[in-house]
Amino acid sequence: MWAELLPIGRSSASGGYRRYAWTGADTECRAWFRTQAEARGLRYEVDRNGNQWAWLGDPGAGDAVVTGSHLDSVPDGGAFDGPLGVVSSFAALDELRARNAELGKPLGIVNFGDEEGARFGLACVGSRLAAGQLTPEQAHRLTDGDGVSLPRAMEAAGHDPEAIGPDPERLARIGAFVELHVEQGRALDLSGDAVGIASAIWPHGRWRFDFRGEANHAGTTRLADRRDPMLPYAETVLAARREARLAGAVATFGKITVEPNGVNAIPSLVRGWLDSRAADQDTLDTVVNAVEQAAREYAAAHGVDLGVVRESFTPVVEFDHALRDELARILGGDTDLQVPVLGTGAGHDAGILSGTVPTAMLFVRNPTGVSHSPAEFAAEDDCVAGVLALADVLEGLARR
Ligand code: GLV
Ligand code: MN
Ligand code: MN
Repeated sequence: MWAELLPIGRSSASGGYRRYAWTGADTECRAWFRTQAEARGLRYEVDRNGNQWAWLGDPGAGDAVVTGSHLDSVPDGGAFDGPLGVVSSFAALDELRARNAELGKPLGIVNFGDEEGARFGLACVGSRLAAGQLTPEQAHRLTDGDGVSLPRAMEAAGHDPEAIGPDPERLARIGAFVELHVEQGRALDLSGDAVGIASAIWPHGRWRFDFRGEANHAGTTRLADRRDPMLPYAETVLAARREARLAGAVATFGKITVEPNGVNAIPSLVRGWLDSRAADQDTLDTVVNAVEQAAREYAAAHGVDLGVVRESFTPVVEFDHALRDELARILGGDTDLQVPVLGTGAGHDAGILSGTVPTAMLFVRNPTGVSHSPAEFAAEDDCVAGVLALADVLEGLARR
């Protein structure tokens, strides 16, 4: 499975992946998913929001056990963020069949569409739509960096954009959802464990800062006469770092566009996106409010206008305690082995679904912790340990 996925959407320049929603690379990943489902004789379906499902047993029976993740990527993402969960799901199903496991419940594998939000700016579009956390009207207004709207992109990829919307009946079939994911930090490396269980996801969001000044000649405009939006932007980046450090949170400006983007022109517009996350809502509010306040002061000092728009937000997620404890019991087996339970600052479809269905996550050790980068890595032995843990969990839950 890895060998087949390896070349899809891979940049030869960076070695990273560019698998953005509803692009050719995404279509190839989706074709791969369908092939995997059909090769195993699973019932394949695409839901109204473009999420792909593969079923062993009849999902209509209800109380299904579902696993899966996503196949799209951030710009120059690693091979594991998303695909490890999907590949491991199919591999775990193979393992269960090899064991002749008795499954009393339907088992589903899902590939959620557009988890990273790399193209349209909003993460977890497929699961948000299904869970009713994003309305079709809001989704229809999303556009990519080239001005292509989400509906047009969906249409171009062969999906009907008019069909999108809440899917409560499909989600009601799920008794438990478990997402396996590569860890995006070093907690498991430090504890010496191959696999861990998620406790919570930090609240997080994305804010767009538009600094509008005046384009002018870089050689002839006196410094005193400039309204240069790059200056308050730069100061705001430093403020974000400072406020995050003071609050014990994180804040990142990782994306920026500049107009007119000429070497010898003072910019008319600097648009930067702030991604900020914290362990609790109050801390996150404190950081973002402080960054915005600082940005307003810097902008005013330079005669620059500032607009701030919150583009997405995900509140804190505390995964279902009963399900989490059950995973710990299953993975602990007859031993008193303590499987580490960890929180994360990364967002996941499991977090979106957690408001609707009992949800849990498994993390697989990442020896460097690096993620959202071509250098992201997990050792083969650890990936196998992840598959076996997932198979144990699915078997345990499907037997309940
Ligand atoms: C997704 O990986 C996110 O945490 O932004
Ligand atoms: Mn990611
Ligand atoms: Mn992911």
